[in-house]
Amino acid sequence: MAADPTSTRLPAADDTGRAEPGSWATWLAARARVRAARGMQRTDNSRGPLMDLASNDYLGLGRHPEVRAAAAAAVQEYGAGAAASRVATGTLPVHRELEGSLCRYTGRAEALVFSSGYTANLGVLGALGGPGSLFILDAHAHASLIDGARLSGALVETSRHNDLEHIERLLRENLRGPAPKPRVAVVVESIYSVLGDAAPLAEAAELCARHGALLVVDEAHSLAATDQGSAVRAAGLAGSGHVVVTATLSKALGAQGGAALLGGESAGLLREHLVNTSRTFLFDTALAPAAAAAALRSLALADPGRIGNLARNAKVICETLAGHPELRGRIEPGAGAVQSIKMPGAAAAMAVTAALREHGIAVACFRPPSVPDGISRLRITAHAHQDPVELALVLGTVARIILEVES
Ligand SMILES: Cc1ncc(COP(=O)(O)O)c(C=O)c1O
Repeated sequence: MAADPTSTRLPAADDTGRAEPGSWATWLAARARVRAARGMQRTDNSRGPLMDLASNDYLGLGRHPEVRAAAAAAVQEYGAGAAASRVATGTLPVHRELEGSLCRYTGRAEALVFSSGYTANLGVLGALGGPGSLFILDAHAHASLIDGARLSGALVETSRHNDLEHIERLLRENLRGPAPKPRVAVVVESIYSVLGDAAPLAEAAELCARHGALLVVDEAHSLAATDQGSAVRAAGLAGSGHVVVTATLSKALGAQGGAALLGGESAGLLREHLVNTSRTFLFDTALAPAAAAAALRSLALADPGRIGNLARNAKVICETLAGHPELRGRIEPGAGAVQSIKMPGAAAAMAVTAALREHGIAVACFRPPSVPDGISRLRITAHAHQDPVELALVLGTVARIILEVES
């Protein structure tokens, strides 16, 4: 059954039929049969020698010679791993350099690096949550935000996707009444991972300020990928103390890791709070030095020229596909690198993805339950380094295969 996009309940974390009876072996076999019947199998795909319209290495920096050299030099200098949590002996000069560089890049006052974007979200929401806190989570929030909110022990409400009126209603309901919540945070993504659409950050920040709430913004898909390298900065919010940013270093920066980026007068206090209470900071080995050094070098290379090329190629994708009258109404232009094409169902989406792989083209395929509105989609991801003419030619093949498979 398709998920109800207007639902205010948190979606299930997964659909693994945990409550079903049976031994481990029969249960595993039964779950595999259910996945096969629903067309829901996933594989750990490698990229191979394909035309990459699927990976998150938006600027192509993961393979940039300077980034690779920086990672290799860090291995020589520090070894393969950080060997301890940041609060034990794991903090290395490269972590501090990276945090300083992230602050300069985003205009924020303080930064704290985690071992992934996932652990950054778990760590930040865990440190802000607990009894007395309430998170209002957008219905399209990433799994790491849902998990972070749930694990934190805070109360959780879900707001309809990008619906400021609904957020305001939930804020009013929870800040007034017989048992008002003392601390509320609204949790959004700058650019949503599924539909690629943007959150109304300036309006959401204003709303939160008016109600004394925090706004937590996951910049996974906008850090080094959109105007000014940060959607929060572009919205004029870099200095706002009530806006807490999380980010990943593993998409546009092509490395690995995550970060909390903090602004305003209380940034230092909040950073100290995270260092002392974020379980995924305290009890996790520090970000590997090679990843930290790679992200540091990538930040220096993630300039307006590269980000502009990414935006240009995203436009090429939308315009080329919309040039096919049969596809026009199905293209969902994204605010960042990811552009989506609505598909009639999961089977068609999978068949097109497989046929494109045969042609050496990698695209991503999103199917229920990964899509909150129950609509299967192909996700075509732009990359800055692709030649726009070659890209348009490849997209011609993408359009042809979609129409062939569906005919
Ligand atoms: C919105 C969002 N937040 C967080 C993450 C997790 O980041 P990482 O892959 O660095 O753990 C992702 C990655 O898919 C994401 O899309």
